Amino acid sequence: MNPIIDQMNQHFSVRQFKKERIADETLKTIINAGRSASTWMNFQSYSIIVVRNQEKKQKIYDLLGQSSILSADVFLVFVGDFYRAKQITDEKGVAFKPEGVERLLVSSVDAALVAQNTLLAAESMDLGGVIIGMLRTKSEQLSKLLDLPDYTYPLIGISLGVPDEHHEIKPRLPYENVVFDETYQIQPEAFVETFDEVQSRYADGRQATLWSERVANYFSGDATASTLQNLKEKKLM
Ligand SMILES: Cc1cc2nc3c(=O)[nH]c(=O)nc-3n(C[C@H](O)[C@H](O)[C@H](O)COP(=O)(O)O)c2cc1C
Repeated sequence: MNPIIDQMNQHFSVRQFKKERIADETLKTIINAGRSASTWMNFQSYSIIVVRNQEKKQKIYDLLGQSSILSADVFLVFVGDFYRAKQITDEKGVAFKPEGVERLLVSSVDAALVAQNTLLAAESMDLGGVIIGMLRTKSEQLSKLLDLPDYTYPLIGISLGVPDEHHEIKPRLPYENVVFDETYQIQPEAFVETFDEVQSRYADGRQATLWSERVANYFSGDATASTLQNLKEKKLM
């Protein structure tokens, strides 16, 4: 097709890394490429914490129990950030209203676009990584560990490094199940069984549960309370 689309189509998450250091310049190049993502009104309502210190990675691992964080050379934390907006509104002597769902979407979308762009840039340089959303289950503790001020919150992380594993590309739902012409089209439930079979073939016995069981388990449980608690503490809700 073309090299960029080929690269995108080759994506798979990497959770096990070699003990090789990513050069500082390379890391900066990757993050800067990530930062070229579109951003709401060019406000850039995010920050990125680069964690390379092994003791700090250990502390984050102790909180989250995700082995990719220990194995990774770098752990990046993408933070939704209105602290700079607070500085600007203070300086202008105007009101500051960072609370609520719409604001949260602005900063979360900004941070997520940069994160995905960063991962893709890393993959284009033969590095690999995995996005870590689990960090929101320990939002308050992580905020403390990273000295996050008011009006900021951790959204997702990325464990990044030189891959020490290779996976087949994980199948996605069929195009027609998720892309609709002109209006939304509710899909007949048969898509569930069909995709469970596709996923089970891909997993080849490595996963004890069906894809649909994992969806059902997740959505029948309560969402982590930590996200909202932390957003309240940081004066964003
Ligand atoms: C928002 C988000 C949060 C994620 N959180 C985690 C996580 O906490 N731990 C993990 O191992 N993978 C996590 N992942 C990776 C997904 O499990 C992975 O992207 C998905 O299973 C598809 O597999 P692939 O990336 O190999 O194609 C996350 C992905 C996204 C987009």
